[in-house]
Amino acid sequence: MSCIPCCCKSEVKSTSYNQVSNKVSKGRRTFKSLADAMSRKTGSSRHRQITTEILKYGAAKNDVKVLTYEEIAEATNNFGSDCLVGEGGFGNVYKGYMKSIEQTVAVKTLNRDGNQGTREFFAEVLMLSMVNHPNLVKLVGYCVEDDQRILVYEYMTNGSLEDHLLDIGNDKEPLDWHTRMKIANGAARGLEYLHNYADPPVIFRDLKSSNILLDENFNPKLSDFGLAKIAPREGEFVPKTRVMGTYGYCAPEYVATGQCTSKSDIYSFGVVFLEIISGRRVIDTARDAEEQNLIDWAQPLFEDRAKFTLMADPLLKGKFPVKGLFQALAVAAMCLQEEADTRPYMDDVVEALAHLAVHKTDEKDIAGESIKTAGHVESFRAPSGSSFAAERA
Ligand SMILES: Nc1ncnc2c1ncn2[C@@H]1O[C@H](COP(=O)(O)OP(=O)(O)OP(=O)(O)O)[C@@H](O)[C@H]1O
Ligand SMILES: [Mg+2]
Repeated sequence: MSCIPCCCKSEVKSTSYNQVSNKVSKGRRTFKSLADAMSRKTGSSRHRQITTEILKYGAAKNDVKVLTYEEIAEATNNFGSDCLVGEGGFGNVYKGYMKSIEQTVAVKTLNRDGNQGTREFFAEVLMLSMVNHPNLVKLVGYCVEDDQRILVYEYMTNGSLEDHLLDIGNDKEPLDWHTRMKIANGAARGLEYLHNYADPPVIFRDLKSSNILLDENFNPKLSDFGLAKIAPREGEFVPKTRVMGTYGYCAPEYVATGQCTSKSDIYSFGVVFLEIISGRRVIDTARDAEEQNLIDWAQPLFEDRAKFTLMADPLLKGKFPVKGLFQALAVAAMCLQEEADTRPYMDDVVEALAHLAVHKTDEKDIAGESIKTAGHVESFRAPSGSSFAAERA
């Protein structure tokens, strides 16, 4: 099992975890109670508390602004239907232009009642105040006037990966192979930052194609930090939590036990990466019964390298390098391992994907190259424990 250099950097990781351990424990102790407490405060005392608490962490990385309802309403033509760009579980998303900061923004309004929505709102504000990376969406500001809870982000011109991969209308071109690998690589870098470099380290918990947003050049950014949580330190007891996230993307051990670690994010990344390669939705009830679950569908195909090319999205029309496809499937299979401990770390995934994201002009498409000439092949364990052949990355 040597095609990706995985599981060999734990020493390096434990050192960096220890270095930040004091701040991490402080963050972990206070984060949930802080989010809960803030949801009970009102008016300007909320703003003061958010600012004070973020400063206590000592890790505020962004200048997240407190915005008024009036200026957000003005920016979105009073939340007009002509500005509506999306609708999620949290609420509607509008495109707007904020004069005060001269920036086009995405405005997300919380429709959902109850504590969970409020908790997610404050979790998002706190998390996005404490992280900063080119592959994470920026929170411009927020509004908590009266009953209103509104989040304002940088606007991502190309919407979500889901829009371009799984919900392609006639107005969109399918993503080419190179762009797909670039998106996977950027999303992996965002996760790597959260796991290995954010202070304190963060588990994202809701990775899916609708939470990967794309800018005008199809650079990806992770969005939706409402479910994110501070990661337990290595060796520390992982508490059981209510399983959140989205069905199909959640790791099997998280679903079974409620214990969520960074390895659960890596499983979700494997699911998204397989969606990117195949153009299939993880759960698609419009398909025949045996094809509705992407992972179940892929299982027998992973066992036979002669069938690997069947996993490529038909919309690619054969325009992908065979070697690149094999390597990409190898990465996906390793992330999807049932055993959490045998999944790679995110920096291993980033290293493997960096090669795949480089555009090589001498690469031949499937039409010009037979599977046999695709290069050296090794075996390793597939998600279900079956034999899987993949190329050395
Ligand atoms: N910052 C943004 N810039 C541009 N469009 C955005 C932005 N954020 C969200 N959107 C659009 O709004 C849609 C809905 O996003 P939202 O995060 O509310 O829900 P979701 O991710 O689709 O589902 P869920 O609520 O289950 O996470 C996205 O698919 C995307 O098209
Ligand atoms: Mg989302």
